[in-house]
Amino acid sequence: MFEKFKESLGINSFHYQIPSHGNKIPYTLGGITLISLTILFISGFILTQFYNPAVSDANRSILYIKNDVYLGWFIRGIHYWAVQTLTVTVSLHLIRVFMTAAYKKPREFTWLSGVLLLSLIGGFIFTGTVLKWDQEGYEALQHNLWVMGKFGIFGKLFSDDFSKVNILGRLYTVHISILPFLSILLLMVHLFLIKIHGISPVILEGDGRMVDFTSHIRKLIKYGIFTLLVVSVLAIVIEPPLGGEPVEGVEATKPPWMFLWLYSLENIWVYFLIVAPNVILLMLFLLPFIDRGSSIKLQERKVAITVFIIILLTMVGLIINGMITSAGHHME
Ligand code: HEM
Repeated sequence: MFEKFKESLGINSFHYQIPSHGNKIPYTLGGITLISLTILFISGFILTQFYNPAVSDANRSILYIKNDVYLGWFIRGIHYWAVQTLTVTVSLHLIRVFMTAAYKKPREFTWLSGVLLLSLIGGFIFTGTVLKWDQEGYEALQHNLWVMGKFGIFGKLFSDDFSKVNILGRLYTVHISILPFLSILLLMVHLFLIKIHGISPVILEGDGRMVDFTSHIRKLIKYGIFTLLVVSVLAIVIEPPLGGEPVEGVEATKPPWMFLWLYSLENIWVYFLIVAPNVILLMLFLLPFIDRGSSIKLQERKVAITVFIIILLTMVGLIINGMITSAGHHME
């Protein structure tokens, strides 16, 4: 009976061979990211039942979720902490993919779909921050409006006066429908390309063994349970931050930690807010087309690796700097 179901549902097609290194932790970071994303979608579905994007009610509805909805505080905590695990694992996934030269031919488009997924994650975190509609959320929106203002007609879609519907309501739609739709679409492309090309070879000596793909899925299920456990414990122990209603015209907060590198740069020159993310994205986009050498060995990729490590350390340094400097005024 169960065998029949397995056949009808195509579960048997998961029994194919993959190289054994595909089961090593660095090669499961993409899968773990996918798990955090799934936790985010499920907890997000629940939160939408209680959140109200009207300016007068947004902040209050989060207080309602936190204080009055049954287990609302827990679901909100899960949502917040899954963002943190996702940010950490997607960054480590990118570093692994870079170090193992998996962006090189024939995986250029897998890499590009990954870069697009990364920018969507940035969009999710930005819009999610605004939805809280506390001082931090309000200031995140002001920064975005300022940036869009500099793009004239091209920034109009994201400006306050594009539509009679309040921008908070429109960003809510972006957060709960446009971004999920685009990310699911891109994920399908990402996973399809991974299946087509197979996992990239190891850069060090491999053992040449092959294993069944279902062993990879079993590993991911274990890591998934562990991730859910970590996220749940954090949700119980540490409450996500939430300030009161925002005060207009004030700049008194810093962005979430993953944007602190940008915040530090903005402290130096406010236009970095526009320049820096675009330069980083452009570099990531162009990487497979600039670094076209076929070697995947670390010692034969000294220039690419040095540049990558310098950028990475600079970003970490800027994040630490952002943590220790006090909030200041930037907008003109
Ligand atoms: C939502 C975000 C992402 C998800 C869910 C995801 C998921 C995955 C999964 C499940 C794999 C299979 C191997 C592994 O787990 O390491 C993978 C491989 C890959 N990913 Fe991602 N990924 C994401 C973001 C990114 C980003 C930001 C990049 C790079 C900019 C990227 C580039 C790649 C490449 C090139 C591969 C092929 C690696 C190889 O063959 O060794 N991905 N991804």
